Amino acid sequence: MVSMDRIAVYAVIALVLAAPPAAADEAAVARGKYLFDAAGCAGCHTDSKNKGPLGAGGRALKTPFGVFFSPNITPHAEHGIGTWSEDDLARALRHGVSPGGDHYFPVFPYTSYSGISDADIGDLGAYIFSLPAVARRNRPHQAPPPFGWRFLVPVWKWLNFTPGPLAPEPKRDAAWNRGAYLVEALAHCGQCHTPRGALGARKPAMKLAGTPSGPEGGIIPNITPDQETGIGGWSDADLRSLFKMGMKPDFDFVGGAMGEVVANTTSRLTDADLAAVIVYLRSLSPVRHQVRRKKEGER
Ligand code: HEC
Ligand code: HEC
Repeated sequence: MVSMDRIAVYAVIALVLAAPPAAADEAAVARGKYLFDAAGCAGCHTDSKNKGPLGAGGRALKTPFGVFFSPNITPHAEHGIGTWSEDDLARALRHGVSPGGDHYFPVFPYTSYSGISDADIGDLGAYIFSLPAVARRNRPHQAPPPFGWRFLVPVWKWLNFTPGPLAPEPKRDAAWNRGAYLVEALAHCGQCHTPRGALGARKPAMKLAGTPSGPEGGIIPNITPDQETGIGGWSDADLRSLFKMGMKPDFDFVGGAMGEVVANTTSRLTDADLAAVIVYLRSLSPVRHQVRRKKEGER
């Protein structure tokens, strides 16, 4: 015979099983939204210029290798990633491989996202799969051979890509490790700020040292702590104003690509995360590399 006590226990177990997942999901969606912002997914996957819906793709990304159009990553079954499993999303971000086994072009910065932790990829998925599904067809890329040849991507990856996740550095403290994770993986600062070689691989010795030929042809400044050519002379307050409002120490505002990074990413980071980014940037080896256009009157 089943006692009343037993029934009560079963009822409690049933409640515990039924209730928390919904609450946990909401928390995962909220964490995922923060990560989606920190990783700048919206910037590339939204055609803001033409008032396209969030995540529905179609933004043109001009690179030295051709024009790439971001795909629709809303959970639409036909035009987006609605039929994907969580593992499919993990494979795309960690390994740059599609559910069908195709290799993604590295304009999709999975060479950085590969460093994202499993837990954070799970939360990103919870948020992405909670977005409204948008029926917007993907546009084919306009990249001439050999760069538009997808079957060559594995060769490029074999030469230039080591999958993550990023391992914490035990000799460094929590703030430094958090900063490294943000700069190297999530916010992928090096995708713009590190100069590239002929085949588009980032040059490790020049990490974050800037380039005169960045994405969209822009000049990307040196953000290593070099006193003269980098941000060595910037105070923490200078860096915070830049990340929060886009304002530089000379009261100029950053525009273009960094303007978007500030709006979509750095201005949305918590104060603790911004402080961690600053700790990490200051710990880098200074690289002397003048890329910034000199202003009138500047020597
Ligand atoms: C710098 C621009 C850029 C950023 C930032 C970016 N993506 Fe992408 N993403 C792309 C491009 C371009 C492709 C298409 C690559 C290809 O066709 O090989 C792509 C492909 C994808 C795909 C595969 C879609 C499909 O239909 O196969 C997924 C999923 C994806 N991105 C998710 C994300 C997520 C999640 C983030 C943020 C963590 C993100 N992307 C950030 C440019 C970007
Ligand atoms: C999509 C490309 C892109 C990404 C990603 C990017 N930046 Fe930038 N960044 C730029 C450009 C372009 C400028 C120059 C903007 C200007 O002067 O108008 C810039 C300027 C800066 C400056 C000002 C330096 C100076 O000397 O004026 C700092 C600091 C900076 N970025 C830090 C970062 C950090 C930290 C990240 C990652 C969280 C990051 N950037 C990600 C493109 C990018």
